[in-house]
Amino acid sequence: MSTAGDSRAITPPDIRARKGGVPLVCLTAYTTPIARLVDRHCDIVLVGDSVGMVLHGLPSTLGVTLDMMIMHAKAVRGGLEKALMVVDLPFGSYEESPEQAFRNAARLMAETGCAAVKLEGGEAMAATIQFLGARGIPVMAHIGLTPQAVNAFGGYRVQGRGEDAERIRRDAISVAQAGAFSVVLEKVPEQLARRITSEIGIPTIGIGASPACDGQILVSDDMLGLFSPFRPKFVKRYAELGDQAGAATAAYADEVRKRRFPAAEHVFADAPKDADADATGSGGAA
Ligand code: KIV
Repeated sequence: MSTAGDSRAITPPDIRARKGGVPLVCLTAYTTPIARLVDRHCDIVLVGDSVGMVLHGLPSTLGVTLDMMIMHAKAVRGGLEKALMVVDLPFGSYEESPEQAFRNAARLMAETGCAAVKLEGGEAMAATIQFLGARGIPVMAHIGLTPQAVNAFGGYRVQGRGEDAERIRRDAISVAQAGAFSVVLEKVPEQLARRITSEIGIPTIGIGASPACDGQILVSDDMLGLFSPFRPKFVKRYAELGDQAGAATAAYADEVRKRRFPAAEHVFADAPKDADADATGSGGAA
């Protein structure tokens, strides 16, 4: 498990100090097995509110609750040893006031052991970021395309093109000045990402924001080919595990229907031949 008290675990100040260095590697995780898989390769593991769309089949991240984030973050914590665990504050849990944000961020930290939270918004969230930072809660900011504002944006469009660039630039400067230890830049043009990265003193972590950023983040299920309803242009699939899982399921169904599974090696005799094999019990993972 990764917490600030664990000397092997990466901390928010470690991330902050990586500005301009070897790019930061970040992925999402929502479960213990995926957390175990990505931990050794990542600097940051984000328990993102994308969990709502990816695991719960919701149409957007707006229906994700604090209780859902806590449940998934507890699962992820059990699979981490090294990476910094950051947990998203979901829609409606922090925007009302710095006090509301503190109350819910403190609950996330106390119940999950996470060492930092992420929230969406730039200039409008600067006072909240400062309030949390002053009370011991490290904040990763998220600007550009902020999915919780999908209705205000009218879709998941690229942000900060043309004259709109100045708005995103101001957001980046505000969250850095407010004390965020890093900022996610989502779906913004390369020139803008490059400019922001050179102008602010905290690491920029890009998702659809070019290699100019100080690090990259992707949703693990996108990168592994496990999420198929849509594929944004910025996603590179490093595997097609969804296709493999589909083929494995078809093979299982075929063998069951033809009585080829279970085969002799999966069947128990009346008198145990091998005490250990029988002692593994009925659990599939035993
Ligand atoms: O919720 C999420 O997974 C995110 C990342 C994609 C940045 O916010």
